Formats: sequence, structure tokens, C-alpha cells
Amino acid sequence: MPDLELHPLNATLIPLLGEWQGSGEGAYPTIDSFSYGEILVFGHVGKPFVAMNQRTRERESGLPLHAEAGYFRPQGDGTIELVLSQPSGIVEILTGTITETEAGVEVDVSSVGVHTAPSAKLVRETRRRYVVKGGTLTCDFWMAAMGEPLTHHLTSSLIRQG
Ligand code: HEM
Repeated sequence: MPDLELHPLNATLIPLLGEWQGSGEGAYPTIDSFSYGEILVFGHVGKPFVAMNQRTRERESGLPLHAEAGYFRPQGDGTIELVLSQPSGIVEILTGTITETEAGVEVDVSSVGVHTAPSAKLVRETRRRYVVKGGTLTCDFWMAAMGEPLTHHLTSSLIRQG
């Protein structure tokens, strides 16, 4: 594939591009707490979005856990849209802000729509925060699900690879 020039709208997301690996902790009022390993890859194809691919594994067994794929769509005015889909039958559309910082970038988004397949667990609302500080990416996730109000579900800390 030829070297593709970055679309100018993606400029603020440059600190996210590449592969990240690390570990995280999960909790929710309705389940037992858990630990996981995570791989996140952000890439571009010269168009005005950044593609995201996430895989996680259970810490002890190494068995696959949650996964998701989607697109970060920067709008050029400091705002951003995310569209994400999950094999658990959940799709999220979120909007929010991109903030450039001295050490990287922060993306903070809240759902404008969450849709669940008929057999999926019920999720009404989500919020996500991605913070790049140098070679570290911190991800946090909140959800209103299973009748609970918006509550923290996940935090992970990932290191840039390569
Ligand atoms: C790093 C990503 C994630 C990991 C490792 C993860 C892991 C888990 C685990 C281990 C459970 C408990 C067992 C189970 O029900 O499977 C769980 C429950 C759940 N997760 Fe996540 N999850 C992740 C992301 C998400 C996301 C993005 C959503 C929603 C958009 C979500 C929604 C839920 C729901 C609704 C439950 C069920 C809670 C219940 O049954 O009471 N999770 N998650």
C-alpha cells in the first residue's frame, strides 16, 4: 500500500495513532470486578477519520474478553464523533471534544445514541475518555446499564508499542 498522507482533520489525533498495549481493571455494581489485558490500534487511510480496533483478554486465563471496532471522526472545530460496534450486540454513537495538551491529546465523549440488539444486555448511555500523555494512553469508560445510573466500568493504562 502506498504511504497515505494524513487527512488534515486528523492532525489533532496524531498522538493516538499506532499500537498500544497494557492492562486494565473493570467493575460494575452488578458484577464481580476483573482484570484484563488490552491491545488498541489506531490507524488512518488518508480519509477524515481514524479507525480503532480493540481486543481484550482475561488477565489470568488469557481467554478473549470484550472487543470492539469503530471510527473517530474529528470535525475540525475541536469536536469529534465516534461510531463503535461490539460483538456483544451493542453499537454506540458518541460526541464530545478533542483537547490538545502539551503532552498529547484528550478525547472526552458521551453517547448521543446507544442501540442494543434484541438479545444484548441493556445499555442506555455511555461516556468514554482517552488521554495520551507522552507514551502512555489512559482509557476510561462509564455506562448506564442493567438499570444502574452512569457508573464507571473500566480503566486501562496502555504503553505505545514500537
Ligand atoms: C475493555 C473492554 C471491556 C471489558 C474487558 C469488559 C468486561 C466485562 C466483564 C468481564 C463483564 C462481566 C461478565 C460478563 O457479563 O461478561 C462485563 C459485563 C458487562 N459489560 Fe463489559 N467489558 C468491556 C466493555 C464494555 C462496554 C464498552 C460495554 C457497553 C457499551 C460493556 C457493557 C457491559 C454490560 C452491559 C455488562 C453486563 C453487566 C451485568 O450483567 O450485570 N462492557 N464486562
